[in-house]
Amino acid sequence: MRNIDENTITPAFMQRIAGTGNPRLKEIMTALVTHLHDFVRDVKLTEDEWQAGIAFLTETGQKCNATRQEFILLSDTLGVSMLTIALNHAKPPGATEATVFGPFHTDDAPHADQGADIARGAPGLPLFVRACVRGLDGEPVADAEVDVWQADEDGLYDVQRPELGDTRRARAVLRTDAQGCVRFRSIVPTAYPIPTDGPVGRMLVATGRHPWRPAHLHFMIRAPGYRSLTTHLFRNPDPYLDSDVVFGVRSSLVGDYVEHRPGTAPDGSVVETAFFTLAHTFVLPRT
Ligand code: BEZ
Ligand code: FE
Repeated sequence: MRNIDENTITPAFMQRIAGTGNPRLKEIMTALVTHLHDFVRDVKLTEDEWQAGIAFLTETGQKCNATRQEFILLSDTLGVSMLTIALNHAKPPGATEATVFGPFHTDDAPHADQGADIARGAPGLPLFVRACVRGLDGEPVADAEVDVWQADEDGLYDVQRPELGDTRRARAVLRTDAQGCVRFRSIVPTAYPIPTDGPVGRMLVATGRHPWRPAHLHFMIRAPGYRSLTTHLFRNPDPYLDSDVVFGVRSSLVGDYVEHRPGTAPDGSVVETAFFTLAHTFVLPRT
């Protein structure tokens, strides 16, 4: 086809990919390019704007390295990550909702025993957590792997503190007991801004958005015979619960963080500062 104009270019593209062998790839490419062409026509994209878009994506790629994934950050802040999770993790009523994974999980978190202090020196008010894992029929899920990670009172993960090197703190992997529960001591999480020293940060400023995530603990729970769950327990109150920069908040994931005066903690230890307790039950559907 020759003399392609702004309207015939879309069917011309579809003709070119008519021989795509993989039907799902064909479906995705067809929808993607249909929306892309419609977008360019709708906004009447100028050449300068096209150039700016290419520069933005180039810089996004250049910002990526082994520990920084600016494209995922872009997806998160555009709501694409949460939309994909919502579409793929529709849960039966009663099951715990999933939310974003985020970039701060590590595969080398220390294994911790029941009752351990997983903060390992990270700064923050003490938090005593009891988290139980159950199936949809209420059955306890024993020996489930509970991977937990969080920011400290300065809003930083261990991996964001170069002075710590490979030392891991405020994260651990635990296993549920016969009642399906884990108990651990940690610290109260704090709200924090996502990394803003790249193109995503500039995009947030240019569109009048703040970069903050409300305070949360991350959980990844795995048990044979059950669907794996990646989720958070948000702290309440938090000024960012209604405007999480990555759209990750679900009402059902707002945890019951209870503040206590200095005194005897649930593990019998005496705590000289205020401390918090958090109890929560995660419900996993069977596979
Ligand atoms: C996080 O919660 O760790 C996170 C999630 C998405 C983007 C940045 C951070
Ligand atoms: Fe986080």
